[in-house]
Amino acid sequence: MRLTSSLLVASLLLLLLPFSDAKKPGKGRGLRGARHKLTRDRLATPDCSELTESGEVFVDCQSRRLNSIPPSQTWSQQPKHLLLAHNRIKVLHDGAFTGYEGLTSLDLQQNHITLVEEGAFQGLTQLTTLLLQNNRLGTLSEEVLIPMPNLGYLRLHGNPWSCLCPMDSLIRTLQVPSNRYLGTHARCAEPLRLKGLKLKQVDPEMLCKEMDPAGHPQGDETEPLFHIEPSHIRTKPDATTSCNTYLFPQVRMDCSHRGLTEVPTGIPDDVVHIDLSHNSISQLRAKDFHAARSLRTLNISHNNMENIEKASLSGLLHLRELDLSYNSVHFIQYGVLEDLYFLSQLKLGGNPWVCDYSIHYMVYWLRLHPGVRHSGLLCRSPLEHNGEPVQEYVNSYNRGCPKERQQSRADPDETDPKLWNTPMEVQGELEEELEPSHLRVPQKYQIYRLS
Ligand SMILES: *[C@@H]1O[C@H](CO)[C@@H](O)[C@H](O)[C@H]1NC(C)=O
Repeated sequence: MRLTSSLLVASLLLLLLPFSDAKKPGKGRGLRGARHKLTRDRLATPDCSELTESGEVFVDCQSRRLNSIPPSQTWSQQPKHLLLAHNRIKVLHDGAFTGYEGLTSLDLQQNHITLVEEGAFQGLTQLTTLLLQNNRLGTLSEEVLIPMPNLGYLRLHGNPWSCLCPMDSLIRTLQVPSNRYLGTHARCAEPLRLKGLKLKQVDPEMLCKEMDPAGHPQGDETEPLFHIEPSHIRTKPDATTSCNTYLFPQVRMDCSHRGLTEVPTGIPDDVVHIDLSHNSISQLRAKDFHAARSLRTLNISHNNMENIEKASLSGLLHLRELDLSYNSVHFIQYGVLEDLYFLSQLKLGGNPWVCDYSIHYMVYWLRLHPGVRHSGLLCRSPLEHNGEPVQEYVNSYNRGCPKERQQSRADPDETDPKLWNTPMEVQGELEEELEPSHLRVPQKYQIYRLS
């Protein structure tokens, strides 16, 4: 009996062990678990990459599941840029960046930070850019900024700011006119009466005001109805708040899967790559990218685009890659592609290209720009051309109507179909069709002339 009961107790204990272990990591399996975790963390650190770009050392620890700042001795050189975006860091303790005194930029966006201790950024006197957006900060003391006299850019949006008395000094600092790029876009999440207001704009006098007594929330209940997400109802989405911005190796904005129905405003002029894929953007409008002078990659694939306005891509002189695939584009309007001097890759697949005269511009432009690798330019309609490469359609169109052309010019070769589309022919035609933009009078070349 005794034996059985002690066996019972023993087996019960065995059963309970895994549970008690989880709560007491200091014992038995728990210790091994902790040790395992430690090695895992240590392994995670060297997993980061150290890179030199334009003579500056970057340490890239993005998306490494880190829950603490890797010690500075880990790296062979002092980094200038430390990228810790998209990890699991919760607290920035005093002296967290000891040994990182050479940093000029620090990216801590998309972590789980709820607390920044006052001395967290001690020693970062060179720091000019600090990214804290998309964390879980409710409050931040102005003291944390004091060690960083050179700070010019501070991102704080995407945190649930509690606009109460403890934020008073920080908010007043952000509102100093010379601190123009500190805390732009950040908004109060509470109290209700200030919800949705920008830290830049909230009246500091309101922060330390006695709140309405809890029993009489009159003022609080009628007003907030107007404040509920005002930015989403009235204004166009803003790129900085709608997208994630990464600094390495070049400035890149990820705006994919955001439910955007239009191109967000305020794309900064230093963005090199922008991903707008998997949204519901139905058209590109003139000036959508007018500030984005540095863009090299533009990805608008998997949207609902039907219309691309003529001036929407103008000014994108450095664009290399343009992905328009999987949209609802039927043709590209005359002139849309004119500024894309350096384009090298153009993705066009998954669009219902219509093979009638309106598609000719696209083909002419591609012939004029033989360096552009393109894909997916296939007729979807009319039915008889379904699946045919658009270029073939245009060639057969040109072969098929020599008479029409005879009327417009007297070219001795044009009756011989084999001589159609020789490079010279194409070139001559193109020169007429596509003069440099400053010489062009677009109305003169409208499609109706030949259709
Ligand atoms: C654009 O985004 C899609 C979807 O995320 C991706 O498959 C494609 O490779 C991207 N295009 C370019 C040019 O990077």
